[in-house]
Amino acid sequence: MNADSCTYVIFGSTGNLSRIKLMPALYHLDVANQLPQGTRIIAIGRRPWDQEKWLAELRDMIQTKVKDDFDEKIFQRFSARMYYHRGDIDQAECYSELAATLNQKSLFPKNIAFYLSISPADFGPVMENLSNNHLFDEESGWRRIIIEKPFGYDLDSAQALQKRISHYLTEEQIYRIDHYLGKGMVQNVLVFRFANVMLEPLWNRNYIDHIQITHSEALGIESRADYYNSAGALRDMLQSHLLQMLALVTMEPPVSMEAEALRDEKVKILKSIRPIPKEAVHAQAFRGQYAKGVVDGEKVNGYLQEENVPANSVTETYASMKLYIDNWRWRGVPFYLRTGKRMAKSQSTISICFRHPPLQFFRDTNIQCMNPNWVLLGIQPEECIRIEMTVKEPGLEMNTRTRSLDASFRNHDEKAIDAYEDLLLDVLKGDRSLFLRFDEVEYAWRIVDPILQTWAVERDYIATYPAGSWGPEDSRLFDKDAQSWRSSLTPECK
Ligand code: BG6
Repeated sequence: MNADSCTYVIFGSTGNLSRIKLMPALYHLDVANQLPQGTRIIAIGRRPWDQEKWLAELRDMIQTKVKDDFDEKIFQRFSARMYYHRGDIDQAECYSELAATLNQKSLFPKNIAFYLSISPADFGPVMENLSNNHLFDEESGWRRIIIEKPFGYDLDSAQALQKRISHYLTEEQIYRIDHYLGKGMVQNVLVFRFANVMLEPLWNRNYIDHIQITHSEALGIESRADYYNSAGALRDMLQSHLLQMLALVTMEPPVSMEAEALRDEKVKILKSIRPIPKEAVHAQAFRGQYAKGVVDGEKVNGYLQEENVPANSVTETYASMKLYIDNWRWRGVPFYLRTGKRMAKSQSTISICFRHPPLQFFRDTNIQCMNPNWVLLGIQPEECIRIEMTVKEPGLEMNTRTRSLDASFRNHDEKAIDAYEDLLLDVLKGDRSLFLRFDEVEYAWRIVDPILQTWAVERDYIATYPAGSWGPEDSRLFDKDAQSWRSSLTPECK
């Protein structure tokens, strides 16, 4: 697919996401000559800056991010695409002035992509204003809108938001972003499963004991207390990124790699996840909050001591849950998902644990540890696919040990592409396969809603864990004693 030249209009361009992700991603696309000729970017911000001040800030954003890779010549080309539009998104003039700017057809390409990197509460009003100013009229070029997560706050609010948005736009114009789908290793899950014939016959309840997905972060909530305290780990990571990864690991082969075919299969999985009745929330979900501790050798505050966090907050910074998928392939297999801030280290991993062989001939000679086979998909920071096998140890005894077969994702000389680069380019191509359709979001909310509702009323108790640990003790989630969280990509016993 070819990328069309367009005007990217970025709401929230002075905010954190824009600073650390969006602007660097657009700059990298320019470096790689991927931005179509004539592409322009309108940065909307409330701050009383002029173009010169914005460009100075932009330079700082890019330099901080790309460091030694900063290229002055390309930055000049990149800044020539930029236009700072000072405006308050709560005020009607912001939009009439924007419309007047965009009407200078010789300066701005006729296709327009609006990126809403703003609070979800502002999505509706911003769209209403854009529509009132005829900025969604497609007479001269396409209009697309990119919406950051969370899409809603729970099932009801997501449905209400969707109703409001669909008043102005068709589903084809809406790009709901889940940046995990832009990650190379997340896309590699599909290639690994459907471009290799060896594992797919084993990818089911007959051979797989259970699957775990871990996303842990050493970082705390940084300066995002306002957002995070009203979201919590379940909404922030699990409802979106972790359920998307689960869908890719478990879905049926799609009829093609077209957007709709892929999304159909993901929706089928989300639909087949067994609803968690309120009475089962305690058995199937767990939450915790970090207390002070030590991360990477440094003493850090607990969540309640973070700036702008209310002293009595019961927002979870750790969430884990167990799910079952009631379909032909997965019935009875448990899926364990966990995510947390201020944990021992930052990593995202999908770990697939296979069943033991029916007879364990070699157990007597090596009683300490009989490892099952594991397939480990390292999403980040280590990007890899590993298959752990049991092999004979050299020597006279029939002892065994674990060795991994390794298919690393990237050669040393191959550069990582940030997820946002891929996704921002897909918008220009009109490729929606890595964006979420509304029913995906809806089913994902359906899965977590009973937990959110239970946690909302049980406000008196939340487990704590020391910052820098692997989270609270939640082993009651596991179906069997032999199951436990896996935190490493290297064999856990010899
Ligand atoms: C975001 C969450 O969607 O994903 C953040 O809001 C989280 O809280 C981030 O830190 C993790 O993304 P990544 O790409 O750094 O793993």
